[in-house]
Amino acid sequence: PWLVWTLSTIQIAVFIAELVNMGKYTGSPIATKPSFNPMIGPSSYVLINMGARFTPCMHPIKGITDDSSINFPCPNSTSLDTNVCTLTELCGMNAMGMGVDAEGTLDPRQWWRFITSIFLHAGFVHIIFNLLLQLKLGADLERDIGVIRFFVVYMASGIGGFLLGGNFTPDGIASSGASGSLFGIIALDLLDLIFNWETYKNPARVLLIHIVEIVISFVIGLLPGLDNFSHIGGFIIGILLGTALLRSPLKIRDPEGMSFKGIRTADGSDDKSFSFKGIFGGASDAGSPQTIRDRSKRWYVWGAVRLAALGLVVIYFALLIANFEKGGGSCSWCKYLSCLPVYDWCDSGTISTTTN
Ligand SMILES: *[C@@H]1O[C@H](CO)[C@@H](O)[C@H](O)[C@H]1NC(C)=O
Repeated sequence: PWLVWTLSTIQIAVFIAELVNMGKYTGSPIATKPSFNPMIGPSSYVLINMGARFTPCMHPIKGITDDSSINFPCPNSTSLDTNVCTLTELCGMNAMGMGVDAEGTLDPRQWWRFITSIFLHAGFVHIIFNLLLQLKLGADLERDIGVIRFFVVYMASGIGGFLLGGNFTPDGIASSGASGSLFGIIALDLLDLIFNWETYKNPARVLLIHIVEIVISFVIGLLPGLDNFSHIGGFIIGILLGTALLRSPLKIRDPEGMSFKGIRTADGSDDKSFSFKGIFGGASDAGSPQTIRDRSKRWYVWGAVRLAALGLVVIYFALLIANFEKGGGSCSWCKYLSCLPVYDWCDSGTISTTTN
């Protein structure tokens, strides 16, 4: 599974670069001031500077990006009361995408943060947990469904998750991590189970394990520096794209439980698909005219389901991108989907701005 290894290698390299930068800026690779980063990693300012999803760098926000008298923390900041940087300096990336509009107002457009943030992690706890899941589940799935489908779902889920968070988390909160992509992968695994229920030895037990995994991940997503919107968005995209791209359910392909040996699957997908491990063997009369008619009807029905799922993916991206361009949605309680209201965690990501 070379893709999973490549992605993981990039993520580790980027994390090391984060620690080096953090050390260079503040003298300590781990953020302890102004607040300890419970993920055990760099400050959110360094994460923002290196490409985390941070909406003020990505689209104009009334009262924040258009007010040049506001000062922001610097990447080297270790306290809340010494904001001396401009937004452009905080966003970094050689000020790419940080131009001005026709009126001379700052017009931040670092849209690629929806992608780069997938490769940044908030700390050791975050990256270790993600890599364990990625190397275990991701490697299996890459083998089963092939590099292309795996890559498409991985990227679309990651971006889809950050897009949801970009619309609904408070603008001051930066977000990073591959968790959205991994939730897409978890969704694929869940679909595999549901589509091929009959082929599992103990499907109920497998389902239970899936549910436990998902619940644990959602709880971890409540920690600061993580973004549960990524999980929710990634999971939605994973389910939809999985429905569109994976081999059709066994019940559709073979409702009588007969064999497909030597016969190309009705949905035309290749055989490099989810695990069958030769459970279904033997000859059958699957080629009789009656069965072929049945099968072509099912083929159309499932084809319609696939198209609908694909349509929903397009609508999801179109609506959220359009809404983001217009300034994003707002939702006062939404932040609690993404943090626990203990200590000051729900506010610790808030970039406090000062005017002079
Ligand atoms: C942090 O960087 C800013 C500008 O990049 C600089 O003005 C400031 O002195 C630096 N602060 C520290 C503590 O090094």
